[in-house]
Amino acid sequence: MSGGLHQKYLDEAVGQIPGSMGILKSTWRCPSNIALVKYWGKKHVQIPANPSLSFTLSNSYTEMNLTIGKHAGNAQELEYSFEGEQNEAFESRIRGYLRNISSYFPFLSGCNIRIASRNTFPHSSGIASSASSMGALALGICSIERQILDGSKDEDFYRKASYMARLGSGSAARSVYGGFVTWGTMEDNEHTSDEFATPLAESVGPAFTSLCDAVLIISPDKKSVSSSQGHALMDDHPYAGARYLQARKNILDLRRAIIGNDIKTFIQIAENEALALHGLMMSSDPAFLLLKPGTLQVMSRIQEFRKEKGISVAFTLDAGPNVHLIYPGYEREKVLALIMDELLGYCYQEQWLDDRMGTGPEELSV
Ligand code: PMV
Repeated sequence: MSGGLHQKYLDEAVGQIPGSMGILKSTWRCPSNIALVKYWGKKHVQIPANPSLSFTLSNSYTEMNLTIGKHAGNAQELEYSFEGEQNEAFESRIRGYLRNISSYFPFLSGCNIRIASRNTFPHSSGIASSASSMGALALGICSIERQILDGSKDEDFYRKASYMARLGSGSAARSVYGGFVTWGTMEDNEHTSDEFATPLAESVGPAFTSLCDAVLIISPDKKSVSSSQGHALMDDHPYAGARYLQARKNILDLRRAIIGNDIKTFIQIAENEALALHGLMMSSDPAFLLLKPGTLQVMSRIQEFRKEKGISVAFTLDAGPNVHLIYPGYEREKVLALIMDELLGYCYQEQWLDDRMGTGPEELSV
């Protein structure tokens, strides 16, 4: 268990040496992830109400370049650019995040912090950019801390990066690792924690070593409800208790299915979770509806297609209308034919993203 991680990280902060550092740099490529068992509902501070399970993507990532140098004053100066341009909304989120983590990283005060970030996937595409960007930022800051402390990038490094990423965006905690990742305490696994994510330790069945994710863009519109608002609505949700029990059962069953190569159970749980997530949104007060007619048409077509052709493909949804088709690599040809022949018609300007499970973040330069 995590014990006093908060205290451990504060103690490490004492060892940091502000004042004597030159210009430090780090660039990380951090992928996004798609949750199969959803995190929806949280306690203070970014502690999930139930454990979640995701897999990390490969092609959909944030590349973030971080440069830090001391200046004469004590104030922190931030220059942030997204795809070469200033972005006030993102900058203010990052400013707030840096403030929140300042007690863990005192070397950041009195610094010029320059961040240049870009994503390989469009905004509001159904891929969580907060997961990849907060993951990249946490990894970058932890990397610079290691440069100052002359430490290596061991297991502790990734755990700390996951802990810090969580403070930026809960789902970002999972993006720090590749493959299948869980976040949230599971009673039968002492390595899991509400404070950081843990990669699935067991080897997975052959169907799950090459999992793919085709994201069908049903609508490119910005979400009408932020995920923070959605999580907050779970506080007084009439179904909250039942939901957290459902998620706990689903995660155990899903993990067993992945390890045991049980694709049928995998599909059933993945779709149950997607529908449960949107069911919670539609029954909160106020209620909100993010599904579009095209979302329902695609989901129902997937279920028919499976029945007609016996193909292993499941849908899942994030907090938006776009549909993720999850399938093992060996079904690729058939799923691509289905997308091309039938599903593109439901997509906004026939847009979709072709992604698959990846091995996790990568540091591009030190
Ligand atoms: O990490 P947040 O606060 O954006 O919440 C993510 C919530 C979902 O994407 C809907 C589910 C999940 O587990 O990623």
